[in-house]
Amino acid sequence: MMNKHFRTVNDITIDDFNKIINRAIEFKSGKDKEKRPLIGKSVGLFFEKPSTRTRVSFEVAIYQLGANSINLNSKEMQIGRGETLADTAIVLSRYLDCIIFRVRSHRTIETFAKYSSISIVNGLSDLHHPCQALADMMTIKENKKSFDDIKVVYIGDGNNVANSLIEASICGSMELVIACPEEFSPDKDVISQVKEKYGKTIEIISDPYEAVSQADVVYTDVWVSMGQEADMERKQLLLKNYQLNSDLLRAAKKDAIVMHCLPAYRGQEITDDVIDGPQSRVFDQAENRLHTAKSLLEFLLQ
Ligand code: CP
Ligand code: NVA
Repeated sequence: MMNKHFRTVNDITIDDFNKIINRAIEFKSGKDKEKRPLIGKSVGLFFEKPSTRTRVSFEVAIYQLGANSINLNSKEMQIGRGETLADTAIVLSRYLDCIIFRVRSHRTIETFAKYSSISIVNGLSDLHHPCQALADMMTIKENKKSFDDIKVVYIGDGNNVANSLIEASICGSMELVIACPEEFSPDKDVISQVKEKYGKTIEIISDPYEAVSQADVVYTDVWVSMGQEADMERKQLLLKNYQLNSDLLRAAKKDAIVMHCLPAYRGQEITDDVIDGPQSRVFDQAENRLHTAKSLLEFLLQ
């Protein structure tokens, strides 16, 4: 059997994506709490960048499913002394069943997938954050019951989180609008691929107030992603009109929910009153990383 990967949302079918979300909702409800479907499996965690939610939720998920997690710190491995990614991938495939990656360059994930014979999961790259998209869509489903007939608006930097949300938006007839300056639009290939493969058009508009009109979900992320610090001043300047504050939120539907993948830079892309306000679902969204991590690993490894 071919190894299943989750390098991007596009690696799995819409049907499987929905199944993973529904299974995560079951896990959250307490179903199969005692089951250990992955006893005897080992999962590596290869992280080149900091993480709170992704690392901890996956480590807990691995434990709760009965598998073993192994921290692969690139600085402590021979890769840090120049051993090739290809050789490392071949060797690690002889020990492990899956590796979760957080990498500076998406190419690292592709190289590992090319040379390894185990499941590869993207726990964030410069281009995609598919595990986040699973938790995002689960949170939307919990609150809006369906992906059909709703309007989701993502405001700010068209980054890895936005790219994966775009790929996930094909799960239903939901309308996805991205409000950003043209320079910080999401990846063009991602947008054209959802158009060509699924006939889905993603609207990109520059006015955040126009974008959030009639929105059921308003989502934002940091303006400066990890690895983009050199561009900080320019990004903060060009994105300053895209702050998710109470004034902008008032322009959305009254029952709109607020989402943010976290960590947040409070006072920058989102204000305290909005992130801590009654419409915010950001901490449920963060919790859902655990439930979706469990259902993803079960799907990939069982
Ligand atoms: N949302 C998210 O991926 O958070 P971490 O960077 O803490 O893993
Ligand atoms: N876009 C952010 C997400 C962090 C979870 C980053 O890449 O830093």
